[in-house]
Order: sequence, then structure tokens, then C-alpha cells
Amino acid sequence: VTHAEVRPETHGATVGERGGRWEVGSDFHLVLDAGQARYPWSCRPHVYFGTGRDALRGLLALGRDTLGWRRLLIPSYYCQDVVPSLRRELPVAAYEHAPTSAPAPVGAGAGDVVLVASIFGLTVRPETAPATVVIEDHSHDPLSEWASSSSADFAVASLRKTLPLPDGGVCWSPSGLPLPAERSLTLAHAAATLERLSAMVLKLEYLRGADVNKAEFRRLAVSGEAALDHAGISGISGFSRARIDSLPALEWRATKARNLAVLSAELRDLPRARLLDAPFAATLVFDEPGLRDAVRQALIGASIYPAVLWPLTSPSVAGLPPNHVELSRRILSLHCDFRYGPEDMAWVASAVRRAVEARA
Ligand SMILES: Cc1ncc(COP(=O)(O)O)c(C=O)c1O
Repeated sequence: VTHAEVRPETHGATVGERGGRWEVGSDFHLVLDAGQARYPWSCRPHVYFGTGRDALRGLLALGRDTLGWRRLLIPSYYCQDVVPSLRRELPVAAYEHAPTSAPAPVGAGAGDVVLVASIFGLTVRPETAPATVVIEDHSHDPLSEWASSSSADFAVASLRKTLPLPDGGVCWSPSGLPLPAERSLTLAHAAATLERLSAMVLKLEYLRGADVNKAEFRRLAVSGEAALDHAGISGISGFSRARIDSLPALEWRATKARNLAVLSAELRDLPRARLLDAPFAATLVFDEPGLRDAVRQALIGASIYPAVLWPLTSPSVAGLPPNHVELSRRILSLHCDFRYGPEDMAWVASAVRRAVEARA
């Protein structure tokens, strides 16, 4: 079953006739297209973990136990759900970096290790002193030029943000340092991955028109996602390990860039919002939170399920700048990955425009 075979059911209608099971966003369905992926870590030593969190934790545990790491500094604009998990290994504090402004140099002291994130795939990054240990997080654009040409001490990526895999994280060292040992697959992780893979299979069937209960696969997806946040550090599932190298990941990245260009062109003069030029997703920054919330609701009503990356209103780390928290209330990311084509993007853009105009 190739992705193209899924398209007639979900994408066959012309613009103006979207309906049936057509949708944009939310979790990946199982995609069986084949290709030959080359990742920035393919040609050098790397270790796969159960999740991006597990990859970071494996690395932090190594640094804490053998390299004198005492504290992790993360960007102030970063996924808060990840923080409690990282804190199992090291204390965590924030430095100022949001996707809408140039960051100041990071003031790292002895024992500090700095997580530099490619937020939304943007390449803006803070300066760090030459002796500072840097871990780069390439979850939002693992195939970027930055990830390939990096000379950071370490790099990590969560795999399921950009690839249709139920689980997976990876750690490598662009500068050739020793890596943490591979972990075995834990039972808790295997169970979580089974739920997520089941949801992906059922969603594929649903999109193809089968008699599948949407609420049931949503329940499995949500419950599997929650269960991935387990106490132990796990290795990757056998499925994702075996599958990752046969994904047409480069082609998918090019498709996403084309889709993003369509959205950018269609939304260029959108009033009261601007589109960030970011490769991960079409990310809109609205003038005010009420407009963001109204557009989000209207899109959900049109079967377009955008993401909020990230809610910072109940942060897990202290000291977030109030303007970054406020930004998180005005931001909205529209999926534009390989699952969609230009007509889908044109339809999404027109739905956004209608929603903004309805609030005029
Ligand atoms: C930028 C970024 N890095 C790392 C992670 C952690 O990845 P995972 O969910 O695979 O643990 C996430 C999200 O959850 C993320 O958004």
C-alpha cells in the first residue's frame, strides 16, 4: 500500500468539495512507501533510543557519570512535556531563546551543558563559549544542512515528529566523541509502541474508507503517546529500527518544502498574523491569543488539526520570559508534510483566511 493509494479516498475531491475522510494534521498513519534514506548520522556511529527524550536521557546520564555534567540549560521556548523526564538525569534551567528573536549568547558555567534546538527547523542559534559542551536537538528537521554539517559535541533527534514511525530517537556525535551505550527495549516502551503502531495501522484503514472507529484509534494514539513517557530509558522498537532506512525521507522533506511554499504564497498578505519562514510546519504567529484560538477552533471544525508548539502557560522550568509565554498563546502550526499536496494546502490557506476574516 503506497501513500498514493491512500490519496483517492482522502484527497480526491477538488477544492471547495473537501469532505468525507479528508483531514490535515494530527498523527501519522502507517505509510509503506519505500525509498533509501541517508540521515546525517547514517555514516557515523549513532545509537537509537525509544524516544528523543530517551536519547537525551541516555546522553545526560553518560555526561553526568563520566564527564562532570551538573546542569542542563534548555531554550526558554521548548517542549515543556520533555522537562520532567530530563530532570530524572540532571537539574534543568532555561536560557532565553524564542523562534521569533535572535538569542543572546548563553552564559554557561562550569558543569553546564547547553541544549541548542533547531526550533521549528530554524537555523538561528545562540552563541556559546568555545569550551561549553553543546547538544543539538534536530528533531524538527533531522535532514537539514545544519544537522549534516554540524560540529557540535553531540546531537539528538526525536524521529516520529517528521517520520511516520511509532517511536524512536537517535543520538550521534558530529565531533566524534564516545556515545552512550545502547539500551534494551523495555516492556513499557514495547507496550506504548504497540499502541501507537496500532493507531497508525487503523488510521491508514480509516483513511482508505474501511469501517474503522476513529475514536478508537485516537484513543490508542493518545494513550500510546502518554505511555512513551515512561520511567526507564528504552531502546527503539524493532519495527522502527528496521524501517527507518527504507523511508523516502529526502523526497518527503522536498515535498514538505513545496507545500510550505504554496502556503506561504497563499498566506503572504494574511491580516493580523504572519507566517514564520520555518521548515518544520507552516507556523503562524497571530497578533493576539483570541484570534489564534478562534482560528484554531474554526480549522478543527474544517477537519484541519493544527498543533500548538508549545504551550508554555504551565511551564515545567522556572524563569521563562513572560513574552515567550505570551508568544506561545499566539502561535499555531499547520501540518504541511508529505501526506498532502498543493491543492490540500490551497484549501488549508483558504480555511485560515476565512477564519481570520470571520473575526474581523
Ligand atoms: C524539539 C523536541 N525535542 C525533543 C522532543 C522529545 O522527543 P520525544 O517525544 O520523542 O521524547 C520533543 C518532543 O516531544 C521536541 O519537540
